[in-house]
Amino acid sequence: MLLGDQVPDFTAETTEGTLQLYDYIKDVWCLIMSHPGVFTPVCTTELAYMVKEIKQFTDRNVKLIAISFDTKEKHIQWVKDINAFNKEDTSKPLPYPLIADSTRDIGAKLDMIRPADKSQPGLALTARHALLIGPDKKLKCYFVYPATSGRNMDEILRAIDTVQLTHRTGLSSEVNWKPCKRIIVPASLPPEKVQEFVKNRKVVDLPSHQNYLQFGELKN
Ligand code: BEZ
Repeated sequence: MLLGDQVPDFTAETTEGTLQLYDYIKDVWCLIMSHPGVFTPVCTTELAYMVKEIKQFTDRNVKLIAISFDTKEKHIQWVKDINAFNKEDTSKPLPYPLIADSTRDIGAKLDMIRPADKSQPGLALTARHALLIGPDKKLKCYFVYPATSGRNMDEILRAIDTVQLTHRTGLSSEVNWKPCKRIIVPASLPPEKVQEFVKNRKVVDLPSHQNYLQFGELKN
């Protein structure tokens, strides 16, 4: 699956019951994060972070799904560890569904596992992916990390902010952008969008004189 592709619908068993992807997403955004397997240290820290910081995602209209490649029974045991790591009541449910993909069928369908690893015993070492899916069920952004590297959640949140900025306004964001008023105005942006979203537009004069680099301030 590549950027812009339709993410296939699927039905899965999770720690919170059966989930159907499109029904779960409805018309909001969704972030699916894969984890090589249960009782693994890096994944435990990531899943615990997602519990503590769930509001960061709901505030952005993003629903979370976690997936790993073991049985539902093992995942239910793992949830207790994740809560304990956060010093929370171990019997609490997670605030997001955790898919138990023991056959690795869903991971393969979402291109989160190298095909050669699908039927390999042991941990699914290639499966530390994060897929950001838009309300139109298309793939908007994705990250891939090695199993031993914890993901930078600040960067994932920042990426959500830039993708949603473009979705809402058609504007772009510059290098190392964090939510702020200064944005890039693509030269191809229709005038009515410029009028609606941009003030104080300034063209940067470069040797090519092609006027393609334009900054502006976001109106609201
Ligand atoms: C981890 O989550 O710590 C992990 C998972 C698979 C391989 C190595 C590390």
